[in-house]
Amino acid sequence: MKFTIPCRILTLLFGLSPLSALAANLDQTLSSQPNLSTFRSLVSSNPTIFSNLPQGITILAPNDDAFNRIGNWHSQISSNKTFVSAILKYHILPKEVSMKPIPRGESTWSNTLLTDQGFSTIMGGQRLIMTKLPDEKVVFTSGFATRGTVVTEDIQFDGGLIQVVDGVMRVPAGLEFTMRRSFPDDISAFLGGLFASGLMEELVGKTNDVTIFAPHNSAFQHLASNFEGMKTEEVKKIFRYHIVPGTVSHSWELQDGSSFKTAETGKKIAITLHTNFIFVNSAQVLQSDVLLSNGVVHIIDNVLDPNHQSSKPDMNLVSQTPVFEVKGTKTETGRGVETPWIGWIPCLEGEEGCRRVTVTAVPTTTPTGTGTGTGTGTATGTVSFGLGHDC
Ligand SMILES: *[C@@H]1O[C@H](CO)[C@@H](O)[C@H](O)[C@H]1NC(C)=O
Ligand SMILES: *[C@@H]1O[C@H](CO)[C@@H](O)[C@H](O)[C@H]1NC(C)=O
Repeated sequence: MKFTIPCRILTLLFGLSPLSALAANLDQTLSSQPNLSTFRSLVSSNPTIFSNLPQGITILAPNDDAFNRIGNWHSQISSNKTFVSAILKYHILPKEVSMKPIPRGESTWSNTLLTDQGFSTIMGGQRLIMTKLPDEKVVFTSGFATRGTVVTEDIQFDGGLIQVVDGVMRVPAGLEFTMRRSFPDDISAFLGGLFASGLMEELVGKTNDVTIFAPHNSAFQHLASNFEGMKTEEVKKIFRYHIVPGTVSHSWELQDGSSFKTAETGKKIAITLHTNFIFVNSAQVLQSDVLLSNGVVHIIDNVLDPNHQSSKPDMNLVSQTPVFEVKGTKTETGRGVETPWIGWIPCLEGEEGCRRVTVTAVPTTTPTGTGTGTGTGTATGTVSFGLGHDC
């Protein structure tokens, strides 16, 4: 005889979601887990955040080791209420996100409750990236490419789920601070060029939901002679072509054959995927998905040329050749090589080893005679290389 349970009873048994009714509240749940005492005390000392939480959320709870690993947590950060509040909101996802269904090897993102204008201008709240590794572990990635692995997953409480992580998520900052901190010797030419051309203020700082493709220093070094004496308007055109406003596109959202309108009006960039590599026009993405307060930045191996929108990668090459015709003799790359525009990066207050040197104008025509120019001058019309920045 077949035994069947009538639908109605099944609904009674399982349809009313009795689990959440039975689940303990946040504090009880945290106290039942080992090594969460720092996070638990933060929850109780920040009732404005945690006593009014919406239903159906996910909380990332860094364990005690994670807090202890941030050297200045106890001495500096924990006393800064605004910052602590932003950090905590950045650990709360506005929906229930179980770790189980994320496919192995794939990444996805979620908004967080961090919407405070001073920390995030991303539509829907600042984001976190989740990646399931081949060994089934889930890694969360936050600002400055800081990561934390989920060590205990999908703990249920009456408001949703808790994921215990072994790292404290870092709130993403703007392009300048992020590049200075995470890539001080790799992306300084791009950063300096944005300052030199005025685009840092005019464009980058004012654009919300932005995707930026930042060429590595070696790409700019290789083209150093090309940029010497280039008119500011020309530099701006090139730099604007690296900035895509109106979208925060993570690497897995860059589809083969898709194109994006850049901040350089009328100019698009095209995406090509090949095996595991992503190309923007013919430049290869070297590091992807560095989160910013207003978007995301991908680091690429070449400078994009708005006058060569149709350049495609040559899949037979290990590394792509510049799109620009390389001019002059300054083509050397590497640490210690003269790098365009780095003198334009402002010194931070109290920054050691940083000499703010008013930009010494590089002659736009071939100099005649010799002489070391230590005179200062404001370069008008062209954005020349600055010297003397060894931060
Ligand atoms: C708690 O932390 C201690 C010290 O770091 C560690 O040895 C122990 O394994 C942790 N317990 C759990 C369940 O994570
Ligand atoms: C608190 O932290 C924020 C973010 O790092 C910072 O901008 C602010 O200056 C800090 N405030 C104090 C009083 O240290």
